Amino acid sequence: MAQISIIVAVTRNNAIGRKGDLLFHISDDLRRFKAITMGCPIIMGRKTFESFPKGPLPGRRNIVITRQADYAAAGIEVVGSLDEALALVADCEKAFVIGGGQIYEQAIAVADTLNLTEIDADIDDADTFFPAINPDEWVRGDEECHHDDKSGVDYRFVCLSRK
Ligand SMILES: NC(=O)c1ccc[n+]([C@@H]2O[C@H](COP(=O)([O-])OP(=O)(O)OC[C@H]3O[C@@H](n4cnc5c(N)ncnc54)[C@H](OP(=O)(O)O)[C@@H]3O)[C@@H](O)[C@H]2O)c1
Repeated sequence: MAQISIIVAVTRNNAIGRKGDLLFHISDDLRRFKAITMGCPIIMGRKTFESFPKGPLPGRRNIVITRQADYAAAGIEVVGSLDEALALVADCEKAFVIGGGQIYEQAIAVADTLNLTEIDADIDDADTFFPAINPDEWVRGDEECHHDDKSGVDYRFVCLSRK
């Protein structure tokens, strides 16, 4: 079985999105996302896929989950459930679940690791959230702290592994 890793940028109040877009575009975080996921399959919900301005992310298998039987787009593999997506990557060493809220909600139960970018902000008008992380189920790794000059927020990278 592939190692399943969730990767997400989340605020203090568990917010991850608003009106179909990210809450913050921290270039250092987006670069890190690219470096970590490059070469690995990425699994996402249909809404997250449609939020990409330039279509599928290059250098990675883009696996898109939808209930629409006839959904299709160039450069993606379409599946009807998270289980189907996991079956597609079973022979891979590692795969990433990259969102959004609906897919994280389902994937947190099967993920081996959580790659978090924790952003020190509370966003009142967010409409999409990451599920609650039960601290009894996860071991926190070392934190790497940063500041984004453009948005003015502090943030940190931390990886949680399932106990
Ligand atoms: N902060 C971050 O790291 C991060 C990462 C990714 C996304 N986001 C944000 O999250 C938001 C999008 O998240 P979202 O929750 O609205 O949507 P989403 O999880 O990206 O996609 C939801 C769609 O996935 C499909 N789906 C969900 N569960 C399914 C199931 N059990 N079986 C089959 N298909 C299923 C459905 O597609 P159909 O409607 O086509 O059937 C559903 O509408 C955006 O604002 C985005 O920017 C944030």
